[in-house]
Parts: sequence; C-alpha cells; structure tokens
Amino acid sequence: MDAPAPLSQSRVWELQRAFYEDNASEAFAEIPHQIVDNPFVAAAFARVVVGYLRDVARGGLDLDEPLYIVELGAGPGRFAHGFMRELGAFVEALPFALPPIRYLLTDLGERTVRQWASNPALADGRFEFARFDVAGEEGLELGRVANPLVVIANYVFDSIPADAFAISGGGVQECLVSVEGTDVASMRPVFSRGPARSYDDPDLDALLEHYRTQLDGTVITLPHVAIGCVRRLRELAGDRLLLLAADKTHSTEASLAQRSEPELSVHGGSFSLMVNFHALAWYAERHGGAALHGGDRHMALDVVALLFGSPPGGHAETRLAYTDTLDRFGPEDLSFLAEGIERVAPQLSLAELVALLRLSGWDAFTLLGVAGQLREQAAEADPAAQDGLREALLKTYERHFPVPGEADLPFTIGVLLFELEDYEEAIEFFEASLEQHGPDEATERNIDICESQLRR
Ligand SMILES: C[S@@+](CC[C@H](N)C(=O)[O-])C[C@H]1O[C@@H](n2cnc3c(N)ncnc32)[C@H](O)[C@@H]1O
Repeated sequence: MDAPAPLSQSRVWELQRAFYEDNASEAFAEIPHQIVDNPFVAAAFARVVVGYLRDVARGGLDLDEPLYIVELGAGPGRFAHGFMRELGAFVEALPFALPPIRYLLTDLGERTVRQWASNPALADGRFEFARFDVAGEEGLELGRVANPLVVIANYVFDSIPADAFAISGGGVQECLVSVEGTDVASMRPVFSRGPARSYDDPDLDALLEHYRTQLDGTVITLPHVAIGCVRRLRELAGDRLLLLAADKTHSTEASLAQRSEPELSVHGGSFSLMVNFHALAWYAERHGGAALHGGDRHMALDVVALLFGSPPGGHAETRLAYTDTLDRFGPEDLSFLAEGIERVAPQLSLAELVALLRLSGWDAFTLLGVAGQLREQAAEADPAAQDGLREALLKTYERHFPVPGEADLPFTIGVLLFELEDYEEAIEFFEASLEQHGPDEATERNIDICESQLRR
C-alpha cells in the first residue's frame, strides 16, 4: 500500500490516465456516456452556443479569423459529431455573418487523436484534432485567438485530479489517500486525515478559507486542476469565454454540506469523482464572470456554464437559451423519462413510443431501449404511425456515430423495417450490420428471408 498522499497526488490518477491512453475509444465500451453523448444534448449545447454567438456578435467579431470551439476530453468523438451537425442548422438561420467556426477535439492520448483523424465521420474541414492534457502545464495550440472561445467539457472534470478537505468546528484537515492494487478495477483507496497545507495560490487559499468559515461538519473536494485549466483558458481567450460542462456535480454550497470522504466510482478501468462545481462558480464570480447551473435538483447530471467577458447587453441570449434548453427540461430529465417509458412500454402505442424518440432528438440508445416493443407493434399499427416509425429509424441512423461496445443499431433497424414490410431497405441495414459488426448467421438468414419476400 502507498504512503498516504493528498488525493490529487495519489497513484489512482496515474492508473486512470494509463487506462485512457491505452484504450482510447475502446474505453467507452465500459464507461457509461449515453446520457450526454446524444443528439438531445448536442442540440441543447448548440442552441446555447448560438445564444452566445448572438451575444458576442454585438461586441464585434473578427470575420477573418476562426472562432474556436474546443472540446476537452472528447473521448470517442461522438459529441463533436452530433454538436456540429446541430450547430450547422442553427447557424445557417442566423441573420448575420460569423467567422469560420473550427471545432477542436482534444484528449489525453495520441492514440485517441489518431483514431479521430482516421474516422470518416469526422472527415470535415471544420474539425481539428490535438492532444491536450487538462492537468498539464502546456497550453493549447490554437494559433491566434482573435474571437471569443467556446469550451465543452463533458464528464471531464470528474475524471481529473482534485483534493479533499474535512471542515469541522472552524478547522480544516486534508484528506489523504493510500492505494492498494495495480489497476483501477482492483484498487482499494483508504482515507486518513492530516494537517491542511497552503496552495500558495490566492484563489485556492481564499476558496478553502471561504469553506472553512461557511461550512461545518463536511468534506469538500477542491478542484484545483479544473480551476487551473479555466484560468489558462481565460488567458488564451482574452477573458471572452463560454465553458459548458455536463457532469455529476455539487452545484450549490448547500449541496456540499454533510458529506464524507469522496467516493471514487469505478467504471471498468476508470473512475470518477463528484465535481465541486460550486468552487468553479465561486472562482468565476471572483473574477467578474458568471455561472449558470441547475441548482440542487439534479441527482446524476447537471449541465453547468461559466461565462467570462462583457459584450454589450451582457449574455442575455446565452442565459435565455440555457434556461430554455437545459434548465427547463435537461439531459437528466430525458434519461429518467426514457427509463420510465422503457418500463411501461408494453402499455404504450407505437405513436407514443415514436414521440419519445422525437423528444430524444432521434437518439440511438433511446431507440434501442424500446426496440422490442416497437417490434411488437410495428406490423399492426395504423399507416400514419408506421410512417412515424420509418422517419424515426432513418433520422436516428443518419445521426448515429458508432462507439465501441454498442448494440447493433443497423440490425435493430433492419428488423423493424422488416416488420414494416420494407424489405429492400431492411436488406440495406442488415448488410450494414454485417459490415460494422462482422458475420452473423441470424443477419444472413434475415437477408435471405427479405429476398424471398421480394421475389413473391
Ligand atoms: C468519462 S470520459 C468522458 C468522455 C467524453 N467527454 C464523453 O462525455 O463521453 C473522460 C475523458 O477525459 C479524458 N481525460 C482524462 N484525464 C484527462 C486529462 N488530464 N486531460 C485531458 N483529457 C483527460 C479521458 O481520456 C476521457 O476521454
């Protein structure tokens, strides 16, 4: 077992980095990511970014220089793909000119960057790829940043080092951790406590002092690496920045009360911590920025935004778009609703199930969740409901960006089209299934049956 160390210096982070660097997009077969990696969230983020573009355009944009959207810890690249698709449609509708938009996907490992570069779904001149370590000292290589910067960080701040402190009776102790084991799956962290240290950093020391005076009988995490990253991004952007992050967060000070040592939730070879987004909001407000979040109502996922800069009229459009697309009904709401609907699917009509798919923005994971019930009903449904299902299947497939470890979407669509007696189209999807998922007897047999139906 290692000697006790501050949480951010523990070996657990090296194990985690090695896992992500070695496994690249294959890591996502083990990591739950569907709640953020979907068309609903892509469209909501795109709508907020459009609000931001409308706000910053009032302050003047340099139309000859790129406007960068940078994604941190972009993982398999699905979010980037969906987001740019949605953003393109919104941007076309804007009544003013914009600079060329460039979307830079970044992550830790070289292998991930190579996978993006060779993925035909990302072969689009608007995408750029780079290695960037959120926890490192090196800056992002962006060339000249003449326009405001948009940064997206989904499930990234929960995956980078943070410290933990116990606050009690006006005193502070640091939570130390020792680790046993050689990989994340087998590691066993053991917490102890030691004297708190100073960061020699005015923001971090003032933040810890704030918690010492405002909280009692709890343990907080201090996301100093995330704060350092935001600081570097502000510098790069000349303090004109929108950062959007979907994560498992404690967003308010009240939600930091009565906590104990942080739980390292293990997902296969990686783990995650709850993110102290309150600390990031505190940092933003201390430096003239603002924070948007969903308050205390979220259990699994909040989408939070940090805003820096002061365009004429403020960030009114960004705030409006955030309220409308993320706060009123957000990704967590959709995921709860979809799970509930899956449970009662046998009692719902085809049209009702298709309405869920429409609400999801044509999400493949949601479709797969109710596919069994769609199959039960497809053949007997009325023609209008059948047309609704056809539309849902094609739109879902159009948007789909495959990630390792997923169920076979083209096969599922093929089966549903078969039920609709669309045999030619079903064959196309069964063939796509063979191409993407390899040889399969059931799929070959389905193709034969479709062909015999077509010969009748
Ligand atoms: C839980 S995954 C989220 C991936 C993706 N954003 C999503 O929502 O599906 C965390 C991602 O952060 C990346 N990551 C972890 N530590 C990092 C670091 N220090 N710098 C940059 N990326 C990091 C991992 O490689 C991984 O892609």
